[in-house]
Amino acid sequence: MDPRSFNSGSPGKLIDTSLGVKAFSPDPLPPKIDLAAVFLAFGESMAAIGALNAKIAQLRNPHIILRPLQRREALLSSAMEGTFTTTDELALLEAGAEEGARADTREVLNYARALTHALNMMEQLPICHRMIREVHEKLLAGLPRGRGGDKRPGEYKRDQNWIGGISPQSARFVPPPPKEAAAAMDQLEAFINRDDPQSIPALLEAAIVHYQFETIHPFADGNGRVGRILIPLILQSRGLITAPVFYPSASLEARKDEYIDLMFDVSSKGRWTQWLHFFLSVCTDTCVTSNRLIDGLISLQNEYRELAMSKFRSNNVVIVIDHLFSSPVVSTPIVKKLLGVTHRAARLTIANLEEIGVLEKVQGPSMPEYFAARAILRASA
Ligand SMILES: Nc1ncnc2c1ncn2[C@@H]1O[C@H](COP(=O)(O)OP(=O)(O)OP(=O)(O)O)[C@@H](O)[C@H]1O
Ligand SMILES: [Mg+2]
Repeated sequence: MDPRSFNSGSPGKLIDTSLGVKAFSPDPLPPKIDLAAVFLAFGESMAAIGALNAKIAQLRNPHIILRPLQRREALLSSAMEGTFTTTDELALLEAGAEEGARADTREVLNYARALTHALNMMEQLPICHRMIREVHEKLLAGLPRGRGGDKRPGEYKRDQNWIGGISPQSARFVPPPPKEAAAAMDQLEAFINRDDPQSIPALLEAAIVHYQFETIHPFADGNGRVGRILIPLILQSRGLITAPVFYPSASLEARKDEYIDLMFDVSSKGRWTQWLHFFLSVCTDTCVTSNRLIDGLISLQNEYRELAMSKFRSNNVVIVIDHLFSSPVVSTPIVKKLLGVTHRAARLTIANLEEIGVLEKVQGPSMPEYFAARAILRASA
């Protein structure tokens, strides 16, 4: 990290580290932000959020679309970190096909579980250290060494870390040392749980909290992913989005260089306006994409339901169709349990779904056999 990139606008201090390089320690939030400078972009984002909330309000069963959106987020947020799997592999592992599952797929499944865990915790807890650490724990749980499993899941860092570069000397950015990072996390928690949450609009709060979290980089690994999980949590905790349908990683991934450069520019030069502009545009884009994905999923559901009702008398096929939107890979034992029917009846229901082109047998595992709803998987890819 080049200390010469930092000027007097920088919202923090350069401090010495145990590694002989300078680290950046951010000032407590909130910063002074120029609301007038982001007024138009803010209005546009709020309109996009309004449209997304309106769409959710029209849905008979919003649950249908939650898992597909979350699976997509898990894939894309992990991809930004260099962990790649496919929706097919992820859904197969989720359905219990452990055999042959790749380490990347396990890591992405952990992401999906960490996200669900956070959303469940939000019903009882404010956003706090405990929640953040538990999310981290779920994210890295059970992973082998070298994939974060050895990076003390659920614990803040004990060693100096750095971002972008093979050594601290060549790093693009050096976050605060462990002690300063712990203090900065205390301040961040206090800021999120401040007495006057209305003092900053939730969208801008999500932007500054995400920046602050990434800048503190409190964990040895997983900071990018945990920080991206925090974005929908903030928006939901403030009541800005009415269901967990806001997932920004696709848009962040598409503009990754800008994303990283603009956060660095906040640290080095206090360029908040540019960061907020970028973040708001990511939010608008995220809402537009979510709306389109939701439309696609709902029309697929309607198409499948109509098809099933015109061809089969039993309601079981329709029940499985709805189930496939949250879990697009099934086996005969899964369908048997879902419907509470015999093995034979479950197999027949699967055959019916194969006949109308909803399910397709997955090549590979045969004990049990798995069947995938390819169009549903594609609709959220
Ligand atoms: N200059 C910067 N200032 C603040 N945050 C940054 C900066 N550059 C990158 N980031 C954030 O750090 C993440 C990548 O850093 P790093 O590779 O250290 O993450 P990590 O701890 O391995 O997390 P993960 O494993 O989830 O990617 C980026 O996704 C971005 O969110
Ligand atoms: Mg990492």
